[in-house]
Amino acid sequence: MVAFASILFFSCLVTICSAISNPLHASCKLDWNVGADCGTAADKLLKQIDAWSGDDCGTSEKCLYSLEHFDGTTLLAKHETPQKHYVDNLKMVFTSNGSNCAIHGESSSELWYAVLDYGTNYCNLHNLITGSQLDQTTGFSESTNNWKCTQYSSANCEKY
Ligand SMILES: *[C@@H]1O[C@H](CO)[C@@H](O)[C@H](O)[C@H]1NC(C)=O
Repeated sequence: MVAFASILFFSCLVTICSAISNPLHASCKLDWNVGADCGTAADKLLKQIDAWSGDDCGTSEKCLYSLEHFDGTTLLAKHETPQKHYVDNLKMVFTSNGSNCAIHGESSSELWYAVLDYGTNYCNLHNLITGSQLDQTTGFSESTNNWKCTQYSSANCEKY
């Protein structure tokens, strides 16, 4: 009983601390500027989601993506983590910016109590932009921070 109470107390502390330094719910919001028009950018991201739709994950999380909806400006997809099968919802909104495309990306865990995600929500988005090589386009930028993306600064997107 004492042990249980101290575990409960400790996990409450962890929750409170992470709530102060991270988004309350495991999630990520970021903005990209890519050196391609929005049609090209969306096409590359759609192809990447398709390429990583299988369950052949190796030791990475670059798998188990699925497209839900794309109407030309908004893309909705899901990503399942390979080991625990947590489902994260992804959303990208494409806005043209001269010859560039500004993309607002969001990822959020379906589990309401997921507070710490080891950067998974960030990696859900980041892996798609590196996989599609849009990060190598002229003028590429990514802007986010720990407040907008849970555990962003400690994320290792190469493995789960
Ligand atoms: C629009 O493109 C310019 C030039 O590349 C860039 O400096 C700016 O940050 C972009 N705006 C957005 C919202 O991405």
